[in-house]
Amino acid sequence: MKPVMRCIDVNSQQCPCLLADTNHCFMCSHLKGEAICDCDWTGKCILHERNWQAPRKPSDAPCRREVETTLVTKRQVNDSVCIVEAEVGAELAEQLDQVGSFIFLRQADDPEMCNFPVGIMNVHGGTITMVIEKLGPKSSRVFLQPNARVLIRGPYRNGVFGQPWIDSTKYGTILAAIGGLGQTNALMLARQVVANNNTALFVIAPGQAGTIFVTDELRNLGVDVITVPSMRREGFARLQERFTDQVDLLLSAGPDDLHFALIDVMHASGYNYPMAVTNNATMCCGEGICGSCAKKTKSGEWIRTCKIQLDFDQLDNTR
Ligand code: FES
Repeated sequence: MKPVMRCIDVNSQQCPCLLADTNHCFMCSHLKGEAICDCDWTGKCILHERNWQAPRKPSDAPCRREVETTLVTKRQVNDSVCIVEAEVGAELAEQLDQVGSFIFLRQADDPEMCNFPVGIMNVHGGTITMVIEKLGPKSSRVFLQPNARVLIRGPYRNGVFGQPWIDSTKYGTILAAIGGLGQTNALMLARQVVANNNTALFVIAPGQAGTIFVTDELRNLGVDVITVPSMRREGFARLQERFTDQVDLLLSAGPDDLHFALIDVMHASGYNYPMAVTNNATMCCGEGICGSCAKKTKSGEWIRTCKIQLDFDQLDNTR
């Protein structure tokens, strides 16, 4: 059974959000402009929170925290990819210490249009570790000078689809395909699956990153790791030979092409495991406002993937 689509921010500090002001809430039928209540949400009533609990003007909507800090380059992975760290304070760091977390980042004196999303690789105390690829003008700007002052806005949470599978799989067997910069997500995924007492095998290929940089940390977490030069030429075969009825969950961290190829391999092997995969949508605001991350579901509904948690195969992934 597929998990029910839901807003990743429901009942968080950011709920009700700006979308509730204009009848665009994903969860509450009243806050979509409908006359009757027909939600099946069993948490706190969003309508009650919005209208009666803490009446507010739209401009008072609970936006994310923005922190000014210094971006410290820890390691150059290749010509365009760096591992960086930033001190963001204990509270924000704790909020970011979960699978699928990401932030928006820009140079401190740049305009807001320069914000770009960056996934959280690891959290230690009040310090977050991230991997940044200098892909275009936004990401390149934070490296114009060493140890740039930056603004970090967060927490955002929907960097991985299928999170309910990760939360609910306990004492099970989990296989993961990790490609290129999908390694950024590998540590958080590993920590969560190990904390749930699962046995996990992560097969990692360097992909576009050109190198593998998480092996030791993954092994220290208690995950079995196989490194391969190419996921297509070797990695999928190493996973395929472990496909059995005992596998509970498949993880895919990397580009959408990796997700698609892994799904094809799984189906060709006669299995249809639950999957959790990284969300590679283009994100601009992260708040369900701008529409840059919008994708169509198989049922024809357009959803904003920065906010909506679902299974990857619920999307109309026309290839
Ligand atoms: S990133 Fe703007 S709506 Fe999702």
